[in-house]
Amino acid sequence: LEERIQEECRFLTDAFRDEQGNPFNPHLKINSAVSNVICSITFGNRFEYHDEDFQNLLRLMDETVTLHGKIMSQLYNAFPSIIKYFPGSHQTIFENWRLMKGFVKEKISKHKEDLNPSESRDFIDSYLQEMAKPNGSDFCEDNLVACTLDLFFAGTETTSTTIRWALLFMAIYPEIQARVQAEIDAVIGQTRQPALEDRDKMPYTNAVIHEVQRKGNIIPFSLPREAMKDTVLAGFHLPKGTIVVPNLSSVMLDKKDWETPHSFNPEHFLKDGQFWKREAFMPFSIGKISCSLMLLCGSTGMGLLAAQ
Ligand code: HEM
Repeated sequence: LEERIQEECRFLTDAFRDEQGNPFNPHLKINSAVSNVICSITFGNRFEYHDEDFQNLLRLMDETVTLHGKIMSQLYNAFPSIIKYFPGSHQTIFENWRLMKGFVKEKISKHKEDLNPSESRDFIDSYLQEMAKPNGSDFCEDNLVACTLDLFFAGTETTSTTIRWALLFMAIYPEIQARVQAEIDAVIGQTRQPALEDRDKMPYTNAVIHEVQRKGNIIPFSLPREAMKDTVLAGFHLPKGTIVVPNLSSVMLDKKDWETPHSFNPEHFLKDGQFWKREAFMPFSIGKISCSLMLLCGSTGMGLLAAQ
């Protein structure tokens, strides 16, 4: 994964360089780079940033995420059996899902054509190999499509939005940007790619990345979860079936835990010049249900991309 991120970083920095120092909106380029890391894991290949099919997939994902915030989509979530008959943003979401599933299904068909049972090129190959096993009945193609799109939705928007917050904070606080740059120059230099093993030698940059995630707070209500059985949580009785919506902001902006909760302040993660791991840092949520790929895809990917 690290190599794939490093490879994509080269394309992303080239795309930035092509702008020759002129102002530009980095949104699509960052989305393309982050999605490409997921593409190379799932499909086994990356796309050129101007590839039409790729840009179409990204546009559909972007639009679908935005439409989830619209009033009709929210009403659909609350009253699906009635609202499904009405026109509105939720219908566009369904249409977008149909198109995105079509894209992934086409990729799966191509993989089936040249599948080598003894070698796996990517996630789709590995999944197809599991399906072919005699006890692989839990694995089916519909689920493969869903898991692949899960990775895209969970991995693209989150990482891409966080990187955009990082750029914004660096633009607003040039003195912090200068300290990060100085640390990058001292530890990595200008001739090689950053690697995960550099992280421990870069406490300031590490603290800045953590502060971007704390202050950016991009998933303030995590994901809704359901109690599978009667449960007692922090003294509250939750009957089976209760939907739990964790409020991550209440922890990441708590003045009991953070010296200056509403300011962008990397010192929150520094003690005596060393990186300070804080318990109240939980942008990936916590426990068994936390972001399943947070260590590799979240922190490493973020760190590597930021260090570019
Ligand atoms: C800055 C980047 C990211 C942030 C802040 C983030 C945050 C989160 C959060 C808050 C959850 C909900 C956990 C819960 O329910 O308690 C989650 C779930 C998940 N994330 Fe991430 N995530 C990031 C990147 C990624 C990436 C890159 C991937 C994969 C490529 C990924 C895959 C997933 C998956 C599959 C789940 C669902 C886990 C499950 O249902 O058990 N995430 N993420």
